[in-house]
Amino acid sequence: MTTPAPTPSSPPLLGRTAIVTGASRGIGLAVARGLVEAGASVCLTARDPGGMRAAVGELRGLGGLRGRITGHAGSAGDAAHIEACVALTVKELGGVDILVNNAAANTPFGPLVDIDPDAWRDAFAVNVDGPLRFVQCAWRAWMRAHGGTVVNICTEGAQGVGPNIGAYGTSKAALLHLTRQLAGELAPTVRVNSVSPGLVRTEMARFVWENAEPQIAAGLPMGRIGEPDDIARAVLWLVSGAASWITGTDLVVDGGTRVRAAHITEPAAGTGNGADYAVHERLRAHRG
Ligand SMILES: NC(=O)c1ccc[n+]([C@@H]2O[C@H](COP(=O)([O-])OP(=O)(O)OC[C@H]3O[C@@H](n4cnc5c(N)ncnc54)[C@H](OP(=O)(O)O)[C@@H]3O)[C@@H](O)[C@H]2O)c1
Repeated sequence: MTTPAPTPSSPPLLGRTAIVTGASRGIGLAVARGLVEAGASVCLTARDPGGMRAAVGELRGLGGLRGRITGHAGSAGDAAHIEACVALTVKELGGVDILVNNAAANTPFGPLVDIDPDAWRDAFAVNVDGPLRFVQCAWRAWMRAHGGTVVNICTEGAQGVGPNIGAYGTSKAALLHLTRQLAGELAPTVRVNSVSPGLVRTEMARFVWENAEPQIAAGLPMGRIGEPDDIARAVLWLVSGAASWITGTDLVVDGGTRVRAAHITEPAAGTGNGADYAVHERLRAHRG
């Protein structure tokens, strides 16, 4: 199937090509869906081939004028997978204009003082090395000659500290720095930004929000936890022409999590004090 030529009424990303890592569910799937709906050709990744194939099938079923959709199973912490994925995307979709580094590991869990340094390499391999390798491969294979844009999915929590999530938080803080460093290095050819979500209703964060949503929502200025589409809309805007003068920035999409201390709230009956940070209470109580 050839990609239709863009016209003034075409979807905004028609003719563009994208890779979204960790796109079989959650935020990655919502981002991939948004890109497909905007007309882009998209390559999805995830470790589980079955989950990835199901997501590819779901997106191929979307109507409208759209590009091609493919998938490549593997870990964002595996250098060979990354090289193959970028090469496949260039071959099958015709380029890599957009890269969304979304896949992440939130383990090992627990106080850093007790963590096996070899185990915390897992978090860094997926959350830091992987995004860097993806950018390097995409730059060499396509973006250096054709330009492009990168969005790294970080976390609102990377600006602070939290109970038991030191490995995840430290690696995401490194990803924030990597974003700024690469933005300076690759401008003006490639824009590199990040999106930092607050708590979002996905599998990765289920252990935090499940059975605690009223308490958590009561402490959030916007009164609810996030949905994957809240994050996808921010990513879609950052990769669009509307953000053409923006690089090296972090767009926090957190329902006001960071400004909660100033929020004047009347806690709903049975939800406790809305000023408490229920997310940290949940992380403190969780046993890995
Ligand atoms: N949900 C939140 O509250 C929240 C808050 C802040 C930041 N974030 C960030 O948002 C991003 C997406 O998380 P999510 O909440 O949407 O998680 P999710 O619903 O659990 O989805 C994770 C996706 O990534 C894939 N994946 C996991 N490890 C991978 C790896 N090593 N290589 C390739 N794919 C991998 C999963 O498929 P497989 O298991 O088949 O690999 C799945 O498709 C992450 O960067 C996360 O740190 C999430």
